Amino acid sequence: VTIGEVLMASLHNIVLTGFMGTGKSSVGKAVAQLLGWEFLDMDAIIESRTSKTIAEIFAQEGESVFRAMESALCQELAACARVVIATGGGALVSEENRKVMAARGLLVCLNCALDELWPRLQATTDRPMLYTRDRRARIESLLAQRAPAYRSIPRQLDTTGRAITDLAREIVAWWQGAQLQQVVLPVRTPSGEYKIHLGRQLPSGEIIREAGLTGKIGLVSNTTVGALHADRVTDDLRAAGLEVARCLLPDGERYKTLDTLRALYDALIEAELDRDSVIIALGGGVVGDVAGFAAATLLRGVRFVQMPTTLLAMVDSSVGGKVAVDHPRGKNLIGAFKQPELVIADIALLETLPPAEYRSGLAEAIKHGVIAAPSLFEHFERGGRGDELAPLAEAIRVKIEVVQEDPFERGRRAVLNLGHTFGHAIELLSDYRMRHGEAVSIGLVAAARTAEAMGLAKPELAARLVGCLSRHEMPTRLPDYAPEAIWEAMSSDKKRRGGKLRFVLPRAIGDVVITDEVSREIVVDVLSKMRIADKTE
Ligand SMILES: NC(=O)c1ccc[n+]([C@@H]2O[C@H](COP(=O)([O-])OP(=O)(O)OC[C@H]3O[C@@H](n4cnc5c(N)ncnc54)[C@H](O)[C@@H]3O)[C@@H](O)[C@H]2O)c1
Ligand SMILES: [Zn+2]
Repeated sequence: VTIGEVLMASLHNIVLTGFMGTGKSSVGKAVAQLLGWEFLDMDAIIESRTSKTIAEIFAQEGESVFRAMESALCQELAACARVVIATGGGALVSEENRKVMAARGLLVCLNCALDELWPRLQATTDRPMLYTRDRRARIESLLAQRAPAYRSIPRQLDTTGRAITDLAREIVAWWQGAQLQQVVLPVRTPSGEYKIHLGRQLPSGEIIREAGLTGKIGLVSNTTVGALHADRVTDDLRAAGLEVARCLLPDGERYKTLDTLRALYDALIEAELDRDSVIIALGGGVVGDVAGFAAATLLRGVRFVQMPTTLLAMVDSSVGGKVAVDHPRGKNLIGAFKQPELVIADIALLETLPPAEYRSGLAEAIKHGVIAAPSLFEHFERGGRGDELAPLAEAIRVKIEVVQEDPFERGRRAVLNLGHTFGHAIELLSDYRMRHGEAVSIGLVAAARTAEAMGLAKPELAARLVGCLSRHEMPTRLPDYAPEAIWEAMSSDKKRRGGKLRFVLPRAIGDVVITDEVSREIVVDVLSKMRIADKTE
């Protein structure tokens, strides 16, 4: 399965159709409420846009004009995401309209016995299709006329005598069942290839067994993630016949140290891991980096599996093979390249992730959209979430493509630093009180404004970034640090890392350049203007 196919196969909407009176609106509202989506009623939209009732449109302009409005609206609504749409009763009689709606939505046709419909339709005055003397006969003939079109919809739901909430629950279950549940993304490395399994409630034990990783397992997690998820994962591994020893690290970046690593070596050696053993990292980037470094070095290297549990770890740190611990003089100063045998990214594990951690990963996912995935960026612009299969797959794809091209970080991989040159400086000046993702968010805006100042990008670009990031409650305003201080922080960061002060600048969504041509004057000017703009907003 390619990512394109995943995105195509994802059902972004639920579309309810069927004869008038079958309950499209009331069931639709209940479905929307269950999923936390928006509910849209096509007839109501047409009425409010034309300031006329459907009956008036029929009377004044004729049915064909109304049907043309319906077709245009189908096109428009089909492009939405996370909406429940109730169509007009005749809207999907057209095969073309059905195709448009089914491309990105789950189509459900509601039916109801005529005896139950009749009392509902007997007295209505706002249905132009029923303006006739023998109404019951008219309903029967319309039903017969539309039956072939309705019947061609694969999902049929008989609403006769059933409660609305009950019907809504059934539709939600259909939608969940129809969603693609898993995708496998291959990653080429200098030493071969491995697979990232991305999905919900993945059978981790089976996947690991099938990959031939049958040695004793050292399951490394931290106290927080361990308490939430280690039992389930352990049971799953044991059920697949695997032997598991567990090691829990203390939680936090401040424990990403050689001391923690030493304690971990002790525990793994105590558990008698051997050359056939497998180390599994169950956690965020910190656990992945520490356990990965242990796997790279213990017994000169044992096999390694990542089970990322944060959004950041899924889209960023578990891909690319970099593992490291911090040194008092700087982050990630002691490390290695260690490619995993397998990554199992289970979206269900993200359900316990605190919102601040979710946003932290979202900053990186939005960054990936800006680097090379316009459709992903547009998804976030529309307010779409990052912890769903299709956007996650797309965000991971960007990282895979970049690291495949430059596995040892010699060139192109620098594009992943978009927003990070500014971001790291802001983090540093905040004494690390500002979270990484927040600093990156501000850094993305600063990078776009710098690109604009250098004539590389149009002003709309920064505006789109601000719009997208703030829609997800990410900061875009510059904290009150002197622009000169930010420049100094960037330069000293550069000195520590060695090499030139290099910027990644966006030219457009999906198009970035790496440059070391950015002068102090430009940066100070851009940051000063960002401060003034912030204050006058
Ligand atoms: N190796 C790489 O290429 C790479 C890339 C980017 C970042 N990193 C590293 O990753 C680290 C940051 O990773 P992170 O943002 O995942 O932080 P993290 O690992 O510290 O996790 C964040 C917090 O969330 C908790 N947590 C994790 N999963 C949870 C879950 N499912 N439910 C509830 N709580 C959960 C953790 O216990 C922790 O308190 C940094 O050390 C950074 O240097 C490495
Ligand atoms: Zn980052």
